[in-house]
Amino acid sequence: MCSQQQWVGEERIYYKEIDSTNLEARRLARKGAAHGTLVVAEKQLAGKGRRGRQWESPEGVNIYFSILVRPTFLVDKASMLTMLIAHSVAKSIESITQLKLQIKWPNDILLQGKKVCGILTELSENPIDDFYVIIGVGINVGPQEFSKELEEKATYLEAHLNTTISKEVLLDKIMKKFQIDYEGFVKQGDLSAVLQSYHELLVNKDAKVRILDPKGEYNAVARRMLPTGELEVELLDGSIEYIYAGEVSVRGEFGYI
Ligand code: BTN
Repeated sequence: MCSQQQWVGEERIYYKEIDSTNLEARRLARKGAAHGTLVVAEKQLAGKGRRGRQWESPEGVNIYFSILVRPTFLVDKASMLTMLIAHSVAKSIESITQLKLQIKWPNDILLQGKKVCGILTELSENPIDDFYVIIGVGINVGPQEFSKELEEKATYLEAHLNTTISKEVLLDKIMKKFQIDYEGFVKQGDLSAVLQSYHELLVNKDAKVRILDPKGEYNAVARRMLPTGELEVELLDGSIEYIYAGEVSVRGEFGYI
């Protein structure tokens, strides 16, 4: 059952400028901030991307936010929150803009093959004593120039629209959608409630992929995501493997997707 009371983003802390909303959410979590607290910034001075990369965070044009959740489920389920939020964000953008979004497993959101949103989910340092998860999301919204490194790979929403987007309206939509998805996740204990909808967005479905495993790279065909979040891939000899997000990366056979 879905609660009527909006708890995701009910507590909302807004910054004109911050190092990183993920860092700030962690500082607030340590001071006891509530489940569902939302940290938003207009600009990040040290935006964090995955794998220790930087997340370009120019002022005013994009959405940068982090949601703090204090789950009642076990810590080994936390990695699924990254697919869950990707689903919530993609569906929210779709419903406001009618754009056709795609998800590159596990959680990059793409628009016409280019990345428009990145997600960085981080755990508390000591989940046994104090378990919380920080779900950080950066959405490229308005006109901007990307660095040389990104210009081929990244895009922003308004490049594909004839109108501007209200960042506030989109953020509110995401808070509502994430609450629904989160409650479904808690009830089911996995991603079952969003699985079909996630698959409709999944760009890798039945696509040839290159698995970047630190133990060795190999080619495969991505088949589906399991309700527990692993990607099922079929190897060239027909055998099946399950890929865990975080342990390996998945690329297209000849490029990013
Ligand atoms: C990626 O590398 O794809 C993940 C990027 C995540 C960026 C967001 S922006 C808001 C939040 N705060 C951060 O420092 N990072 C995340």
